[in-house]
Amino acid sequence: MKVLSVKASKREYEIVLEKDFSRLSEKVEKLFHGKLLIVYDQNTHPLFSSDVKRQLANYELLEVILPAGEDTKNIENYVRLLSFLAENNFTRGDGVLAVGGGVIGDLCGFVASTYMRGITYLACPTTLLSCVDSSIGGKTAVNLAEGKNLVGAFYAPSLVYIATSSLESLSQREIECGLGEVVKYAFLDKGVTLEDVKNGEVEDLILKCLEVKKKYVENDEFDRGERAKLNLGHTIGHAVESLSGYAFSHGLCVAKGIDKIIDISCKFYGHSEEKKKELKALLNCKDFDLSIDFSKQELLSKIKIDKKAESGAVSLILIKDIANIEVVKMPLEKLMELM
Ligand code: GLY
Repeated sequence: MKVLSVKASKREYEIVLEKDFSRLSEKVEKLFHGKLLIVYDQNTHPLFSSDVKRQLANYELLEVILPAGEDTKNIENYVRLLSFLAENNFTRGDGVLAVGGGVIGDLCGFVASTYMRGITYLACPTTLLSCVDSSIGGKTAVNLAEGKNLVGAFYAPSLVYIATSSLESLSQREIECGLGEVVKYAFLDKGVTLEDVKNGEVEDLILKCLEVKKKYVENDEFDRGERAKLNLGHTIGHAVESLSGYAFSHGLCVAKGIDKIIDISCKFYGHSEEKKKELKALLNCKDFDLSIDFSKQELLSKIKIDKKAESGAVSLILIKDIANIEVVKMPLEKLMELM
């Protein structure tokens, strides 16, 4: 078992990495004795519910199973879960456990953050993306028809328990999705190397990514400065994701976005051909399809309405070097020229 502690303003919490769910009860029993609502999606319920329930057999448990996919992260399901808690007389001593990827985690975290002004939130992330990114740092949210993550709160979990064997059930698309974010960490910090990404053992790789994210979220819990660097590749990545009608996974779009950012950074800082090769080699170590079949005008039309764009400029995360990342406010005309 590997354990990482994360300090948030309201609590310090553990991220536990274990092969399976066998240490879940021991960890939960140390910090929580209430009634528990376990929320799964249709994919995670058949795979993990019997293991999770066996571990938590000493607790009063209720279960909800939601459809898998981004559409589930909506206000209707948020209200539905709140009502479910109220109908079942959940009080402030009770809690919610999310068993799933970022969708289930973000939704349950937001429910837990607001029900009775905050109840215990526990997470068992089951996708590579949620293990290395969304489960840590306390961002919770639901989507509105007008955009993703528009309603939410910062709310730290009380425990994140990663059973790495749960990743064995993931599709190639989901693995690739997580790897896009994993490679991002290798650009942010030398704690994740090309060798780790290429050949690293999964538990070790997740831990290394989490150690990088931990630094960012502990230094800037509420995303007012440095934490923005975790969005490397995301501005262009989101534009591709949206223009493709979400045909590509989020992580693959982040990788495509980082590829463009390498080109832009090379022009902006005047990097040598050798430096460019080094940056591209790091990104290419997982053989992503980095092609983007949209024009720069199409990309710009989406970037203009990104959260990070205002008054004709956009905050871009550029790469001065590996582990040397900078947030640059760039006028849209300049971006057009560099693209
Ligand atoms: N996923 C980016 C962040 O947690 O800030």
